[in-house]
Amino acid sequence: MSSDSKGSRLPGFYNLTLKERMKLLAGTGHLTPEELAALSGAAGLTPDQADHMVENAAGVYALPLGIALNFIVNGRDVLVPMVIEEPSVVAGASFMAKLARTGGGFIAQTDSPVMIGQIQVLDLADVYAARLALLEHKTQLLAEAAEIDPVLQRLGGGPCDLEVRLIENSPVGPFMVIHLLYDVRDAMGANAINTACERLAPRVEQITGGRVLLRILSNLADRRLARARCTIPLSSLAFDEYHAEDVCDGIISAWAFAAADPYRAATHNKGIMNGVDAVVIATGNDWRAIEAGAHAYAARSGRYTSLSTWGKDAQGNLVGTLEMPMAVGIVGGATKVHPAARAALRLMGVQKAGELAEIIVSVGLAQNLAALRALVTEGIQRGHMSLHACQVAIAAGADGEMIARLAEQLVAEKTIRIDRAEEILQEWKAK
Ligand code: MEV
Repeated sequence: MSSDSKGSRLPGFYNLTLKERMKLLAGTGHLTPEELAALSGAAGLTPDQADHMVENAAGVYALPLGIALNFIVNGRDVLVPMVIEEPSVVAGASFMAKLARTGGGFIAQTDSPVMIGQIQVLDLADVYAARLALLEHKTQLLAEAAEIDPVLQRLGGGPCDLEVRLIENSPVGPFMVIHLLYDVRDAMGANAINTACERLAPRVEQITGGRVLLRILSNLADRRLARARCTIPLSSLAFDEYHAEDVCDGIISAWAFAAADPYRAATHNKGIMNGVDAVVIATGNDWRAIEAGAHAYAARSGRYTSLSTWGKDAQGNLVGTLEMPMAVGIVGGATKVHPAARAALRLMGVQKAGELAEIIVSVGLAQNLAALRALVTEGIQRGHMSLHACQVAIAAGADGEMIARLAEQLVAEKTIRIDRAEEILQEWKAK
């Protein structure tokens, strides 16, 4: 077992025990003992901390945290923490990152961290005149919004523009929607933007003569997109009896299916979100916001479609891209309070929210590739089987060494069902 120091290739990591993996991560300096304790659950989120996070707290809830290997994002090796209950996801991401690194890894990029806050203005005598009045006061309104958070302003963030939209056909008559564009720097930004919208509301009413109703951010964060691309050398796509050209063409045809059909696109994008959410959760970010933004963005043309694209370059290599809203932060909220989230951020060595977004979107693209590659060749069940069998074994009541033994038996019988698992356990106990 070796590791190129602080690299993301840890050959043999998979075959180690959990304890050995932790020791290795400490030995290579990827994580401090305190951070490892946070990730292991030994010193993670305490019930006291939880009590300050939600109402009526009655405990904390644990999920597995796996580490995806082999990722190179913008030339930098990164170990990626993924929190997920589903088997095959971490292995799939790691394996596809290994293929991608033969083509240079992932090239990723983000927009400035600009969020949109919406202010709905109703009961306007003349929506057109109200729009112009509002735009005439734009500089003044932006200056007022800038005073709310001097710290953000000093860091180079704050309000950057104000746009006005008119919704002319609605069941409640025409109304106006103001979009406050707000650079939230390294925060997810919900609090900053919601505060600014609430603060501007009385001035907006004064200027327009209307009535402000909603003052809230939009989760369709399409000013804050993250994008990643990767090139998989054609030769890396061949395996077992599958020819590289067939795998490559199969992946492109599978993508064409998702691009054309919302029923398939939903599942295709779910595969992307397997990777995206796992890192979003590991870092204490709001995965519902990311989910909402992803699916709204996927439907932006009026028809729900694939978030990714797959095609070929001039040499016939497979090229994938993924672009989606990515409103994630590295300061504030659970990212700072949750000890495991802090350790996860440190493991990746991210200094800016944009860097985190770039890693997340790269993992989403890798995850999409893992699913498509499996689907167009052997199917996804084979990879799922052994860990799924472990989960079934645990559910049937197995513990300790019995889990692996029972799982193996279920896989050998090709019957991974809880009733059969319980039956086998009974038989073993009766002996
Ligand atoms: C399963 O969690 C995800 C997949 O269904 C994604 C896909 O079909 O592309 C395998």
